[in-house]
Amino acid sequence: MYYEPGTSHHGLPFDPFKSCVVPRPIGWLSTLSVDGVANLAPFSQFNNATFDPPYVMAACNAHFDGREKDTVVNIERTGEFVWNMATFDLRDAVVTSSREFGPEVDEFEVTGLTKAPSRLVKPPRVAESPVNFECKLHTTLFIPGDTPMGNFTLIVGRVVAVHIADGCVRADGRLDIERIRPLARMGYHDYTSISEVFTMPPQTSAIAQAGQEGNTEKIHAAMAQAGIAKN
Ligand SMILES: Cc1cc2nc3c(=O)[nH]c(=O)nc-3n(C[C@H](O)[C@H](O)[C@H](O)COP(=O)(O)O)c2cc1C
Repeated sequence: MYYEPGTSHHGLPFDPFKSCVVPRPIGWLSTLSVDGVANLAPFSQFNNATFDPPYVMAACNAHFDGREKDTVVNIERTGEFVWNMATFDLRDAVVTSSREFGPEVDEFEVTGLTKAPSRLVKPPRVAESPVNFECKLHTTLFIPGDTPMGNFTLIVGRVVAVHIADGCVRADGRLDIERIRPLARMGYHDYTSISEVFTMPPQTSAIAQAGQEGNTEKIHAAMAQAGIAKN
């Protein structure tokens, strides 16, 4: 099959687009309003953007009537957010936190999740989540869609602090992903969680491998040895 989005129809009963980019990690973002009300919502149009230093990005569509979501309003006003890893065990709370509550509603209270204090930003972390990134807003980019709901704001944030629960690190020093079971979005209303991991030997140069691993120490050392100045 072939179709041109917005021009020709896919001919299927369900739009296949979101099912083509899977699985997507979930940006479960906690923020604070200027009035100090905590907010928590999931965004699957989310990923890490780079690693040296680490950045994440999330694409937040507007509401049906074009109003910005609370997450976007809070991040644009305060410049801070926290990413909380969504897991299979936390799946019900993830979906509950996606309900369209008003800005006065604290989704931590609705879901019964516990607030853990952050160190470098004000929004609280989800204590039950095994990994949290404290983030400072780098930039937002508004991109208009075909409808007000199609409008979206791309949020790019710098990760300034990382919390990883002790029990989630294996004896060999790697994250125990099979135990954590990160939750991910598929198409439609489908989800998956990682329960199987396999490794393939890299085929690139040592420095490219360091980039693939996100090993900044190795990269900085190699740069220094080669006499390449830092940015
Ligand atoms: C798993 C999941 C993923 C979602 N991903 C997105 C997304 O990528 N972008 C978006 O605009 N809304 C997404 N939503 C919907 C938002 O979570 C929802 O609009 C929420 O009410 C926004 O809350 P807020 O107004 O407190 O920011 C998703 C919902 C779920 C359940």
